[in-house]
Amino acid sequence: MHGKSVLLIIGGGIAAYKSLELIRRLAELGVTCGAILTRAGAEFVTPLSVSALTGQKVFQDLFSLTDESEMGHIELSRAADLVVVAPATADLMGKLAGGLANDLASTTLLATDKKILMVPAMNVRMWESPSVRRSFEILKKDGVLFAGPNDGEMACGEFGPGRMAEPLEIVAAIEAALGGAKSLASPLAGVRALVTAGPTREPVDPVRFLANHSSGKQGYAIAEALVRAGAETTLISGPVSIAPPDGVKLMRVTTAREMLAACEASLPADVLVMAAAVADWRPDIAANSKIKKSTDRVVPLIKLVENPDILATLAHHAKRPRLVIGFAAETDDVVENAIAKRARKGADWIIANDVSANLNGESVMGGERNRVHLISAAGREDWPEMSKRDVGTRLAARIAAEIKGAA
Ligand code: C5P
Repeated sequence: MHGKSVLLIIGGGIAAYKSLELIRRLAELGVTCGAILTRAGAEFVTPLSVSALTGQKVFQDLFSLTDESEMGHIELSRAADLVVVAPATADLMGKLAGGLANDLASTTLLATDKKILMVPAMNVRMWESPSVRRSFEILKKDGVLFAGPNDGEMACGEFGPGRMAEPLEIVAAIEAALGGAKSLASPLAGVRALVTAGPTREPVDPVRFLANHSSGKQGYAIAEALVRAGAETTLISGPVSIAPPDGVKLMRVTTAREMLAACEASLPADVLVMAAAVADWRPDIAANSKIKKSTDRVVPLIKLVENPDILATLAHHAKRPRLVIGFAAETDDVVENAIAKRARKGADWIIANDVSANLNGESVMGGERNRVHLISAAGREDWPEMSKRDVGTRLAARIAAEIKGAA
């Protein structure tokens, strides 16, 4: 991606604010971004904020003498490696599908000799209207690439398809378009992924167990992102209270030993993401009936024995997945411990996070946000704080780049 350039056309939709975030994400990856802001787009984000983020002049008007003399629309349409329309409104889609060119954005789209990636964003009824369906079909036939739209709640309060893809999903689509990947919407099509999530519960007796505070949110978000990227995804989950993402094959387990058995039964797989907080120890004997309080107040002693290390077992397995990713939930020396853990367990990557951190007033365990480091043979990457959903999306994009790059 480094050194590439994108021409971003920002259409008029409430999702335009996400395009500002997209520019920042692209800049982090060394991608330069020029921008065209449509008249309606300028109602949602200002030219000043766009140019402050791109570091370049924003083009707005086909008939502006200064715009045309600085860079004519034909030149503008050819200068970048890829043209991205985000948000792509019904209007911009309709104009390109119908060959209309009455402003700078539509004229540039007709004039370009580069690939076009559209990121639609509109109300669900608009998205489902026969004319937008027609535009969509025509544009796909003409070779226009698409990212999203996603299902979800919209700014207008309705629910359904039409929500603009998240910035990191758009980055993944741009990465795929620039890298020439065949299927943009499904960079992981044909890839088998195995994800573990949640805690394990180790029984003491029929009513008591040892467990931990893992909510399963990060592992579920990763499984969801892998499904969105087209991977055939098995999610092996300890006991959690959240709903499984659509499209996964869900296997529910309770103990570490059950989790290991479910993982082994799910091999072969191309990618393993061990996000579960597996209990390191279990009571050596789980009593068959409830341990009673004794009248002489003698406290029972519970002897612990070590659980199998699932990650290490699968990393050294005859059917080892091509990419083995472990997690390191640490409270001290996060990166140093993760580097040592990567070697000790035989994992390719370790995603390390500080579970003692307080992000937005919430703890990482059970909260919605995370700040992680990706430790690989190439070194460390420090990812900024983001939602667990975004960590999932970005990880799926990295997995796609790794797997497809090696293919
Ligand atoms: O050794 P530690 O528990 O810190 O390592 C964390 C990583 O190892 C996580 O990916 C976790 O899912 C995995 N693990 C495992 N089996 C265990 C303990 C941890 O697979 N018994």
